[in-house]
Amino acid sequence: MFRLEDYVFHRDLTKTYPIITHGKGVYLYEENGKRYLDGCSGAVAANLGHGDKRIAEAMALQAEKAAFVHTMRFETDVLHKLAEKIGKLAPKQLNKVYFTCGGSEANESAIKLSRQYFRDRGEPEKQIVIGRWQSYHGNTIGSLSAGGDIKRRQPYNGYLLPFQHVSAPHCLHCPFNREESDCESKRDWSCVRELERIILEIGPGQISAFIAEPITGSQAGAMPPPKSYFREVRALCDKYDLLLIIDEVMTGFGRTGTCFAIEHDDVMPDIITFGKGVSGGYSPLGGMIVHDKIIDGIRENSNGKFLHGYTYSGHPVTIAAGVAAMDIYEQENILDNVKKLEGHLSSGLYKLKHKYPIVYDIRGRGLFFGMELASNQDGKPFASDLRISERLNELAMELGAVFYPGSGTVDGYAGDHLIIAPPLIITQGEIDELISLLNHALQALMDSMKEGS
Ligand SMILES: Cc1ncc(COP(=O)(O)O)c(C=O)c1O
Repeated sequence: MFRLEDYVFHRDLTKTYPIITHGKGVYLYEENGKRYLDGCSGAVAANLGHGDKRIAEAMALQAEKAAFVHTMRFETDVLHKLAEKIGKLAPKQLNKVYFTCGGSEANESAIKLSRQYFRDRGEPEKQIVIGRWQSYHGNTIGSLSAGGDIKRRQPYNGYLLPFQHVSAPHCLHCPFNREESDCESKRDWSCVRELERIILEIGPGQISAFIAEPITGSQAGAMPPPKSYFREVRALCDKYDLLLIIDEVMTGFGRTGTCFAIEHDDVMPDIITFGKGVSGGYSPLGGMIVHDKIIDGIRENSNGKFLHGYTYSGHPVTIAAGVAAMDIYEQENILDNVKKLEGHLSSGLYKLKHKYPIVYDIRGRGLFFGMELASNQDGKPFASDLRISERLNELAMELGAVFYPGSGTVDGYAGDHLIIAPPLIITQGEIDELISLLNHALQALMDSMKEGS
């Protein structure tokens, strides 16, 4: 059934969506008064919760002062403030911050910048980007080409750039049938060896960058990498002269208990891309933080010019939201709250795993967790036409909580997961409520399966 009664080009024209009138803290309210606990910060973006007047006022104030200036001609004080705040949070050698309106544009910019870096050095052939299967870097053509989401790529295959992909280090579903402990103890990672093989097959002289999410988000349900994976990857990037782009769009700004998730791996990226949490979702904002060596290259070889940019890059109102969000992260010790509550959220989720046989795995860091659903204790995925993760989320929404469902968890096609990633301002009591609502949703799902069988 197609809805013809309104003018919105909905993401899915066959569905109706609740109309939200306002939000407060971790809750969203529908026009009929129904309340939803936001268990996934929208799309892991609303890190600071909803209805925070401080951010709204900062945006309004900036809109009154100067809503738009073009960054090809002018700048604003808020632009400098936000760049400085982010630059100071980033690893030591990443000091220049470039703004976009979201994560896809951020990765698109990083891809182009990796090309410019090598062109500046007289190596214009180095332009292929290697990404990983079951990863997501955005929906623009460049970022979609770098990502490895088979389902999203498929309809646009003819448009995509000739980028290459390797296996992601998702040990639970290792395509090489190896155990994480075996790889770690032998310091011999099959997925890293595959990366090296692909680099040599293409030829390092053709490749500009390797791009990866530090913890795989939407495609694998908050799957952290094994311990030394990124160190091995960094070593390969150094050996073959590739830039390492770390996509922190979903994980940046405290989500995993450190400012950037790559800090857990003790590895220096060449470019960090960010989005979502940088403005707490209050305004469309993203960007990249760039290593000094790339900036030096642009200065020395391109007269300081990066031929790129968007009308709304550095838009004052959206940047003002970022400044206000950064102030709140700092003043309210958001990182401390994440560290304090990580154990509480994970123990609640593990209790659900022990209670429900369909919960196959719980993983994650900080306030960023994935719940993988499977039809048996060996992890056999549900048939995809059962839409298990979607159904679980629909049941949760009926009960008053919303999560981020995903599929393709096992190999890009099969498998289901739910991302649990509440606003980072959540309290212990609200986590208890979240777990209780998820418990009821799982029970309702089990009941519906029994009825169906
Ligand atoms: C890791 C990652 N990169 C990039 C993006 C794309 O960001 P946006 O939707 O803001 O363009 C997303 C969005 O979910 C993401 O999770």
